[in-house]
Amino acid sequence: MTEQSVRLWGARFRTSPSPELIALSRSESSYFRLVRYDLTSSMAHARELVRAGILTAAEADEVCATLETIGADYEAGRIKPSPSDEDIHTFLERILGERVGILGGKLRAGRSRNDQAANDLKLYLRDVARHIGSDILNLQNALVEQAEAHITTLTTGFTHLQPAQPVSFAHQLLAHAQTFARDLDRLRDWDKRAARSPLGAAALAGSAIALQPELSARELGYDAPCENSIDAVGSRDHVAEFLFVMAMFGVHLSRLAEELFLWSSRQFRWIEMDDGYATGSSIMPQKKNCDIAELTRGRASRLIGSLTTMLVALKGLAFAYNRDLAEDKHAAFDTIDALTLVVPAMAGLIRTMRVNADIMRRQSVEGFTLATEVADWLAKSGVPFSEAHEITGALVRYCEDKSIGLEDLSDADLAAVDERLLPSIKMSLSPQAAIEARKAYGGTAPDRVREQIARLKSVLDGQKEWLSSYAGPRAER
Ligand code: ARG
Repeated sequence: MTEQSVRLWGARFRTSPSPELIALSRSESSYFRLVRYDLTSSMAHARELVRAGILTAAEADEVCATLETIGADYEAGRIKPSPSDEDIHTFLERILGERVGILGGKLRAGRSRNDQAANDLKLYLRDVARHIGSDILNLQNALVEQAEAHITTLTTGFTHLQPAQPVSFAHQLLAHAQTFARDLDRLRDWDKRAARSPLGAAALAGSAIALQPELSARELGYDAPCENSIDAVGSRDHVAEFLFVMAMFGVHLSRLAEELFLWSSRQFRWIEMDDGYATGSSIMPQKKNCDIAELTRGRASRLIGSLTTMLVALKGLAFAYNRDLAEDKHAAFDTIDALTLVVPAMAGLIRTMRVNADIMRRQSVEGFTLATEVADWLAKSGVPFSEAHEITGALVRYCEDKSIGLEDLSDADLAAVDERLLPSIKMSLSPQAAIEARKAYGGTAPDRVREQIARLKSVLDGQKEWLSSYAGPRAER
């Protein structure tokens, strides 16, 4: 038996749609992942139609029960869209019609695919934001665990990718965790603006039938309906903003990925990747590659691409709905699918990496990273910093000539360069002393790093609470 496709329009047309139009108009198959959200929203709409006197309570119950079974059948793979179903809405209306007859057609009253499409994606995004949010949290926890183990592990801090000053390895790891904490914070903030329901906006002007959109909004976990029906169906800044938050996060991930390459390289040897999170080469048996980080860095470019797609689709678009807006789903799904794979892999890589503290400690003084200690010591003993800078420069040159490090200087060496370089300066010339000295809020001193961890943990607790506080429909991934 061939399925009868649902005709949403056409009575005023003299010929049927051309095959080219049908092919172009058909949704991508990935759009059908919104089925569950569309069904839940249809149930809310059925109850709205009872209030409007279009469905009896018994009819609405029958519709809702059928929608429920449609959802179960779809998830179990017992039904799927046919090539003649233009989109998720026509697909579900067809199945509903097959099961409840003309009652199914009644459900279309008072709404439009325009408000349905906007609503389905919004519900999905609000749900997925929590899934991605907990993956981000897991990644942050992995960084915090490593940081806790390496508060006093000395390493090199860089500027311009040149050795700059010793830092605690925990401090370096936490720099990344802080960026991710802000990403998650941005997601929470995005959600406040996304918590408005487009349902009831219908095509663009509002519905003459669904007169209490505030009730369906509540049922679907929103704070309230959108203020303006034209805005409700014609705007996608919530999608663009979501994509920005994700693209920013992707860029942050990519920066972490870049450091992981460096740290795991033969030249650095700061970390050893766990075998389960590293890859080999088909020709070079010795290789241990950091593919997870490479794929992460690569995917970040896609996230930027998705954001760009959405912004460009919106630019110059007259209100309200235009088909261009359907780009929202492709852009969102591409980003979400990428992150769904990338974030857990990065978290696993971080959590399982082994840290070579001895190697780091040794490297932490290479490249005269203690030079600032000399200049600071001189400045504190009354030498103007400009002069202190000059003296220290001369001292570095002296060390270079003798092939020694600043930490190897004898009293005589110091005095030979400048008489103000007293033996007591040597107390400051160790990487431990250097990090201990940076003891102001936000600095790399171990006590400050401990406090940073404590504060970050309470931020993460708050984020965890937010992730579990959402009552809206749950997403499948
Ligand atoms: N399938 C479209 C989408 O994915 C929604 C359909 C709205 N179509 C229309 N002709 N008004 O966004």
